[in-house]
Amino acid sequence: MGMMKSSMGTQGVPGAAPGRHQAPPAASGLSEREFRQIRELAHRTFGLDLKPGKEALVNARLAHRVQELGLASIAEYLEAVKADRTGLELERLINALTTNHTSFLREPQHFELLRAQVLPALARRASFWVWSAGCSTGEEPYSILFTAAESLGARIGALRLLATDISTRALERAQAGIYPAERLEELPAGWAQRYLQRGTGRWEGSVRVKPEWRARVEFRRLNLMEDFSFLPPMAVIFCRNVMIYFDKPTQERLVRRFEERLEPGGWLLIGHSEGLMGVRHGLEYVKPAVYRKPAA
Ligand SMILES: C[S@@+](CC[C@H](N)C(=O)[O-])C[C@H]1O[C@@H](n2cnc3c(N)ncnc32)[C@H](O)[C@@H]1O
Repeated sequence: MGMMKSSMGTQGVPGAAPGRHQAPPAASGLSEREFRQIRELAHRTFGLDLKPGKEALVNARLAHRVQELGLASIAEYLEAVKADRTGLELERLINALTTNHTSFLREPQHFELLRAQVLPALARRASFWVWSAGCSTGEEPYSILFTAAESLGARIGALRLLATDISTRALERAQAGIYPAERLEELPAGWAQRYLQRGTGRWEGSVRVKPEWRARVEFRRLNLMEDFSFLPPMAVIFCRNVMIYFDKPTQERLVRRFEERLEPGGWLLIGHSEGLMGVRHGLEYVKPAVYRKPAA
């Protein structure tokens, strides 16, 4: 992909002058200093805890971008990232170092909890907020929405659903709501017909979340390392398979800020592979991957 097509647009990356893009691929090694710099940058800007031993992975993930930009080394690339005031190259770096892997109804215990316990208790309210923090390409918030629609029926309008991620690329896909048709296998019978439309012509083989359902999700870019105290009190926060990238102090700061954002009795749902062991917080442990703010 040439510079003109990169997400930097025609501006390009400072230091990656046009015409240099034929330069040979970056050297395969990543110096200790480069790795340290990437670690420091990734930790400071988006909380990522890159452990020593990940050098080969980092190198493999970044080498392609270095080559694409016509740069000679990862050191040069880091300079370009720092010089890019749009922040887009930093975001690409984040995308390269994290994964957007997700699926519909992933970790189904949480959706069963929503259906059986959480939503029935909220059903009489005029409105309540649910937040999918680290929503990736949208499968998580749409799973929340469809579960709530099944449970609340005509009262679905009470649900206010916020879905955020640091990655604009993932958010664009989430907002488009287009998925390969095979993904329907992840959904219970009947849901596809109610919530999705099948593509035809050049969209054959794809499904798309119907516009009236897409419109019920408020997608927004948000770096969880930055302030979110302006958000409304949340009845439920999903932050699953995101904190796995963060070190304990970063997790602790984030969990405490989630706690502040939860209304009394509100729920925090985390990934089943992410314990909050060693993280100090004021939430009640309910069961694996389920925490609750004490009622006032
Ligand atoms: C593995 S996906 C998890 C998606 C979904 N929550 C799930 O469990 O299936 C992790 C997501 O966290 C996002 N992420 C990583 N660091 C973040 C940060 N500092 N702020 C916001 N989102 C972040 C990534 O962009 C990615 O989309």
